[in-house]
Amino acid sequence: MNTTRLAPDQQQRLTVAARAMLDKAYAPFSHFQVGAAVLTQRGSVYGGCNVENSSYGLTVCAERSAIFTAVGAEGPGMKIRAVAVCALHQGQDQPASPCGACRQVIYEFGSQALVLFQGPSGPEQVSISDLLPGGFRL
Ligand code: THU
Repeated sequence: MNTTRLAPDQQQRLTVAARAMLDKAYAPFSHFQVGAAVLTQRGSVYGGCNVENSSYGLTVCAERSAIFTAVGAEGPGMKIRAVAVCALHQGQDQPASPCGACRQVIYEFGSQALVLFQGPSGPEQVSISDLLPGGFRL
């Protein structure tokens, strides 16, 4: 499994794809728009956005939306090389690392995946095994 950092052109491609999803977010309750993009081991990129619901607990995060789209396109053998996440609140970029549930879903499809996101003091590129030590496997 390739655990090296992404080449700058791949970083750019993935981050642009995540940002392009911000406009699609359905976030009328939190007004916190999240965009995500998955780079698969095959080299394809799939985007997702958060989709909220009046019944708040039914909300789906952007990362899971992107990952489920990737599975729908590539099937059960889909493997994640990297995921990029970005967020916007009231027109301002926000730091956004994936929530715990999304970390577990990333781990399911790529135990060595890289996660790109805006940290509190700049862009970060961290392995999922560092974000989620001891992820669950059935
Ligand atoms: N959200 C995501 O899309 N991804 C995360 O990793 C954390 C949170 C969304 C869910 C909700 O629509 C909004 O951000 C505020 O929690």
